[in-house]
Amino acid sequence: MNRPSQHWRADDYARHARFVADYGTPLLDLLAAQAHERVLDLGCGDGVLTRQIAACGCDVVGFDGSAELVAAAARLGLKAIQGDGQQLPFNQEFDAVFSNAALHWMTDEAAVAAGIARALKPGGRLVAEFGGHGNIALIQQALTEALTAHGLAPQPCWYFPTAEAYTALLAQHGLQTVHCQLFPRPTPLPTGVAGWLTAFADPMLPAMPEHTRQSVLQAAASLAESRLARENGLPVADYVRLRVVAFKQ
Ligand code: BEZ
Repeated sequence: MNRPSQHWRADDYARHARFVADYGTPLLDLLAAQAHERVLDLGCGDGVLTRQIAACGCDVVGFDGSAELVAAAARLGLKAIQGDGQQLPFNQEFDAVFSNAALHWMTDEAAVAAGIARALKPGGRLVAEFGGHGNIALIQQALTEALTAHGLAPQPCWYFPTAEAYTALLAQHGLQTVHCQLFPRPTPLPTGVAGWLTAFADPMLPAMPEHTRQSVLQAAASLAESRLARENGLPVADYVRLRVVAFKQ
């Protein structure tokens, strides 16, 4: 996660969003980190996946906008740096940049792509997965309707590109895409829509009194729960992923 203005509570994150790291395993396989490599985990969150990268024996650095999540990663014994993913401070240092479920938080996508390209050594790779075009459309719609019913407007806050747009963006920054796939990944929410909104909705909400916030979130949760599919009693979020592998020229 990498939105400096977003306040992440590590305990909320662990409770409502543990599945985020669980879904990252195929991306680790795609990264296939080697022991001699130096890897940047961009948007490392609380370090659960970073630790799995480190287990390959490589030198991995976590990077995240949230001081609280960076502290959680450091408690796992990982190297982790707090900073803005839109202003990466690295220069030709990494064999690979890895990023799971984070790039959609960084809405200055050109600055992020430039920073990734700068951070990679020539020939280095980007292996990333994040929300793509159409991601969480039903949840966003429910939140928008709940805000409108309270006389409020949603804040634009996420970047969900198409495969074509993202490939073109990377090319503009000297990164050649060898794989870019947009695919639906229906995702059961272990703590329901209300839990998901607790962990993630704040950036979409304008300033409002706490009792209004609670009322908006309750209305959005019940609208979304009535529209989403269900599996084993859990609402299934309409996640769409963009998975990408690209090389620095
Ligand atoms: C996602 O992983 O797609 C996501 C998570 C939280 C907010 C928006 C998108």
